[in-house]
Amino acid sequence: MSRDRVFVSRQLPPAALDRLAQHCDLEVWQDFLPPDYAVLREKTESAQGLLSLLTDRIDAPLLDAASQLKVVSNMAVGYDNIDVAAASQRGIPVGNTPEVLNETTADFAFALLMSVARRIPEGKKYISDGKWRTWHPTVLAGQDIYGATLGIIGLGRIGRAVAQRARGFDMRLLVNTLEPESEVQALGAEKVSLEALLQASDFVSLHVPLTAATHHLIGKRELALMKPTAILINTARGSVVEPAALAAALREKSILAAGLDVTEPEPIPLDDPLLQLDNCLVVPHIASASVATRAKMAEMAVDNVIAGLRGERLPTCVNPEIY
Ligand code: GLV
Repeated sequence: MSRDRVFVSRQLPPAALDRLAQHCDLEVWQDFLPPDYAVLREKTESAQGLLSLLTDRIDAPLLDAASQLKVVSNMAVGYDNIDVAAASQRGIPVGNTPEVLNETTADFAFALLMSVARRIPEGKKYISDGKWRTWHPTVLAGQDIYGATLGIIGLGRIGRAVAQRARGFDMRLLVNTLEPESEVQALGAEKVSLEALLQASDFVSLHVPLTAATHHLIGKRELALMKPTAILINTARGSVVEPAALAAALREKSILAAGLDVTEPEPIPLDDPLLQLDNCLVVPHIASASVATRAKMAEMAVDNVIAGLRGERLPTCVNPEIY
């Protein structure tokens, strides 16, 4: 019997790839940059499995061309790069890598929050610009984190992990979520409307998936509701925030600052207005990037491919309705 063929759209930690290679014939994309759409489509045409990353667009035409495909396994918790409805219509299971990255991503959301609040990147630049001539009472004074109010939008697994960290800083927690009130109260938080959260929070941290309902959830109107001293943190997806509205709010100082791990588009162009602003810290989508977590994500993605090739239920499947 011929072995299944799997296309892996980037180099992964070697242990995961070695394990996958025991189950199928692998083609691993070797470039640092992702295959472009036409190449991905061509590579997937004759494959039984696809191990993708969040940079790969997997849409209905690609799935139609891939007539032998038994599984799509995305090495990410988010899967907005995949037309899951189209995969379901074709009976193709789609896997993701939830849970293993919750704590790492929540650590990073907090790191971003603290860096922006306490102006750490500005401090580094202050020295390299040759400006540190003395201690001064007002230089680089930032915002207190301890005891401040944190608004969490979206109480999924990562939002909860951020809430746990915030409790250690004695923060008041406001949460906007579809989860029941009792779930929110169990975290020592208050469930509030989006408007109330934006008006009352010193920090607003986004933890919703990108869907039609959350696309540009934070735009001009929402930013105008925030305090002039408020800081926005986005480790979710760039398109949850309307970028032009955010740049205007930061430029006009209608909010104080922002910390962004994710942008629209990615990568952010070097002439993007957000990169010109001292009160905006942008980093290149690295919230889950610890060595250990990325290795676990790769192992989970491999587990999903192996199960899919065998016709078994994926351990972490985003469209279980196909079964
Ligand atoms: C990263 O953004 C992920 O979705 O895993």
